[in-house]
Order: sequence, then C-alpha cells, then structure tokens
Amino acid sequence: MKESGILISFEGPDGAGKTSVLRRIMQRLTPILGDRLLFTREPGGTNNKTAESIRELVLNSSSDDMDDRTEVLLFAAARRQHVVQTILPALEDGKIVITDRYVDSSVAYQGGGREIGMDTVIDINKFAIEGTLPDYTIYFNVRPEIGIQRIKNTRMNEVNRLDEETLAFHQRVSESYLIIANDNPERFKIINADNDIDDVVEETWQVIQTILQTKL
Ligand SMILES: Nc1ncnc2c1ncn2[C@@H]1O[C@H](COP(=O)(O)OP(=O)(O)OP(=O)(O)O)[C@@H](O)[C@H]1O
Ligand SMILES: [Mg+2]
Repeated sequence: MKESGILISFEGPDGAGKTSVLRRIMQRLTPILGDRLLFTREPGGTNNKTAESIRELVLNSSSDDMDDRTEVLLFAAARRQHVVQTILPALEDGKIVITDRYVDSSVAYQGGGREIGMDTVIDINKFAIEGTLPDYTIYFNVRPEIGIQRIKNTRMNEVNRLDEETLAFHQRVSESYLIIANDNPERFKIINADNDIDDVVEETWQVIQTILQTKL
C-alpha cells in the first residue's frame, strides 16, 4: 500500500537531460518542501545498500558477459528492494518522492531496446513492484541522435555499458517509451527535451508545479 505521498518518476533515453534537469528542480523544490522531499534514483536507491550493490553489478562495464534476461532480473531485483526499503516508507510518511528512472526504464530498455518484449518485462516487474506505479511520469522526449551526441560530448571517459549501444538500440528505446506513454496518457507528462536546457527546466517546473497544486 502506498498512500498519502506522491511518486514522480523522470524517464527518457540516455542524454535526454533527466539528471541535469532534476538537479535544478531539486534546488527549487528543497526550500519549498524541505523534509517532505525525497530524491532517489535507479538502478539502486537512496539509503539502499542492497539495491546499490546490484547497481554496481549491472552498470559495471567489466560484466559484459551478462545475459539479457539476467540483466532484466537484476534490474527488477534492485527495484524490488528500492520500492520496499526506500519508496514505500517515504510515501507512507507523506513524502514527495522523485526518482531518476523507474519501472518504465526496464520496459523501454530491456523490453524494447534489447528486444526481450515489453509485455514480458512488464510481467516480471509486476512481481517486483506489487502495484507501486508512479502517480506521474515526466518523460524527457529527446531525439535519439541528440541524446547520443550529448553523451558523446560530455562523457568521453565514462565507460557505461548501456551507453555503448548503437543508434538503432536508442531508437528502439525511444519508440518503446512512446508506446508506454501512449498507453498511460494520464500518468505521462511529456517534455520537449530537444530544447535548450533552460527551456527544459522551465517546462518541467511548470509540470511539477501543476502536479503539486492539484495533489497537495
Ligand atoms: N537540453 C540540453 N541541451 C544541451 N545539453 C544538455 C541538455 N540537457 C542535458 N544536456 C547535457 O547532456 C549531458 C547528458 O545529460 P544528463 O546526464 O542530464 O542526461 P540523462 O537523461 O540523465 O542521461 P542518462 O540516462 O544517461 O543518465 C550532460 O552533459 C548535460 O549537461
Ligand atoms: Mg542521468
């Protein structure tokens, strides 16, 4: 049971700007919400040793022998721990929980990107989250070419296994996200993430303000 709090996820392909924008949104929200605000991110999670250990495993480029289904299960396992240990207690306390990636990432990346099948990944994640879906998902809609270019420009030294994929992979991820968004129109708020970062921050801020005004 989640109740009283609000769960908001930030989703989108690599380089869409989720983390950068979220950092700036947190700076604006913290003075307003104080302790009522909890930031977390996946894979892993705030104050969550088990989930952070799984994060190390799935994002570590030395584990390039990992089977695709093993990867799905590990992401789902980390998410299970994240829900139980970090997200639900905060929601029960009435907090506004904002997570940088959540269940839709698995459906888009493993289901669509790795072509395991979106429905299969949804089923596995149903077991993990037991109904804890976000109240709102802010989707950073970026053209795959732009997202990849941003990553290339700024993370020359960072070896992240999931960033080493092809344009075709990123296109599948992006198409899958749009299918999820289309299936969940009430939950998804779509942001034009091709724009300048200042504009993306403003558009996101408007959406967050509307959510908080209607829910608080
Ligand atoms: N709107 C934008 N215009 C130009 N550059 C941007 C924009 N948004 C983010 N960037 C830059 O692109 C890079 C990737 O951004 P960021 O890490 O926030 O993306 P992300 O969506 O969190 O990606 P990932 O899914 O890989 O974590 C950063 O260097 C950031 O400064
Ligand atoms: Mg990020």
